[in-house]
Amino acid sequence: ICDNITAADGRLYFAGQDVTALAQQYCTPLYLMDEDKIRENCRTYLAAFQKHFGDKARPLYASKAASFKRIYEIMKEEGMGIDVVSSGEIYTALQAGYDLGQAYFHSNNKTDEDIRYSMEHGIGYFVADNVEEIRAIEAEAARRGIRQKVLLRLTPGIDPHTYEAIATGKVDSKFGSAIETGQAEEITAFTLAQPHVELMGFHCHVGSQVFAEDVFERAAVIMLEFVADMKKKLGYMAPQLDLGGGYGVRYVESDPHLDVDVKVAQVADAIKRTCARLSIEMPEIHMEPGRSIVGAAGMTLYTVGTVKRIPGYKNYVSVDGGMTDNPRYALYQANYTCLLANKMDEKADFTCSVVGRCCESGDIIQQGVQLPGSVGRGDILAVCTTGAYNYSMASNYNRLPRPPIVMLRGGREHYVAVERESFADLCRNDR
Ligand code: LLP
Repeated sequence: ICDNITAADGRLYFAGQDVTALAQQYCTPLYLMDEDKIRENCRTYLAAFQKHFGDKARPLYASKAASFKRIYEIMKEEGMGIDVVSSGEIYTALQAGYDLGQAYFHSNNKTDEDIRYSMEHGIGYFVADNVEEIRAIEAEAARRGIRQKVLLRLTPGIDPHTYEAIATGKVDSKFGSAIETGQAEEITAFTLAQPHVELMGFHCHVGSQVFAEDVFERAAVIMLEFVADMKKKLGYMAPQLDLGGGYGVRYVESDPHLDVDVKVAQVADAIKRTCARLSIEMPEIHMEPGRSIVGAAGMTLYTVGTVKRIPGYKNYVSVDGGMTDNPRYALYQANYTCLLANKMDEKADFTCSVVGRCCESGDIIQQGVQLPGSVGRGDILAVCTTGAYNYSMASNYNRLPRPPIVMLRGGREHYVAVERESFADLCRNDR
C-alpha cells in the first residue's frame, strides 16, 4: 500500500517502528503519524510547483484533512500555505504560531463572527463563496479601514467521479457560483465594485479522492477561459488561480499510485497551452492538497476484542474504537487495508468484518477483510492510510474519548502531538 509500511519477524513496522510495541506503550486506539512522510509530501509538492509553475505558485495544505497544532508547526517550517475553513482551525493555526497572512479562508457559510475573528488576526485571503459573503467582508473591511484580499469560489461544472458526498464542482453544488448560470460573472462584477475588497482571482475545487484522468486539466481550462472572458468583458485580469485539492491516495492495492510531479506537470502543461491559446499571462497557480499530504502518513491501531463467528453467515472482529475515530466507512463505504500487526507471518484467510464498539450496526471499519484465522482478543489490528479525515472527523459518540496522535520520526523517535482525551475532558463542558 505504502512505502512506509514493512514487516519483519511477524511484526508490522510503520515508518521503521514496531507498531505492536507502540500500541503497548501508548495503549489503543491510537493514531500514528509519520512526520517524515508529511514533510516529504510537502517537499514533493513544493518542488513540483517550483519546477512547473515557477516562483510565485504555491501549494496550500488543506488543513481540514488533519488539523492540530503540530501539523501547523510543520506546515510553517516547510513553507506551505494553508487552507482553513473555520475560526476553530484558525485558532489552532495561531496557537501553533502560523502566520495567518499565508492562510486562505474557505467555507460556503462564513459567519459574521468568523469574518471579524479572522480579519482581527490578519487573515491573508478569503475565498468568498457567494455575494452575501462579499457584502459582509466589504462591511467589516470598511469598518477596519482596510482593503481585504479575496478570491471567488466558482463551480466549473465538472463531475469528478468520486463519492457523491465529496463531489463539489458540479453546477448544483452548495459551493461557489456557477460559471454556466452567469452567476460567476455577476459576482465578479459585484466584487470589483467594492471599495474595501481586492479581488485576487478565482478558485474551484471539483472533489476529493479523485483518480479520473484529466479532471484537473479540464477544470483549469474552464477556469482560464473564464479568466480570459473577464479580461475581455470587465477588463479584469485575475492574478491568482486556485484549483483546489483532491488528488487521491492509495487505500487498497487496486488504487493507483499518485505521482505528484507527473500530475502537476500535466496540469501545468494544460495551463500553459490554454494561456497561450487565449493570449493571457499565466496567473499565480495554487492547489490545496489535504489527503495526499497526510493520508498515507497515518495509521490507526486497535486492540481486538470479541471475535464472533456466525456459521453460514458472517464473521465479526470487534476492535476498541470504530466510527468515532474513523467514520469514513459509515459515511462513504470507504476502502481501507487492515493488517494484524502482531501476526504478519500468518496466512490471512479468515474473512471478516472489522467493526467498532459503538451501539449501532453501521459502526463498521471495513467489510471483507482477510485476517489470520487465529485472530483473537489482545491482537493488534492496524488500519493503514488513516492520516486524512479520521482524527479531524472523529466524534465522542457513546462518550468514547478521542485517541491520541503519536508522531513518529527518524525511524526510532516517537512523541505525543495530541493527548488522549480523558473522561474528565468528556465532562469538561457539562454543567
Ligand atoms: N480545497 C477545498 C476547497 C476543499 O473543499 C477540500 C476538501 C480540499 C481543498 C482538500 O481536498 P483533498 O486534497 O483532501 O482531497 N471528508 C471527506 C473529504 C472531504 C473533502 C472536503 N474538501 C473524506 O473523508 O473523504
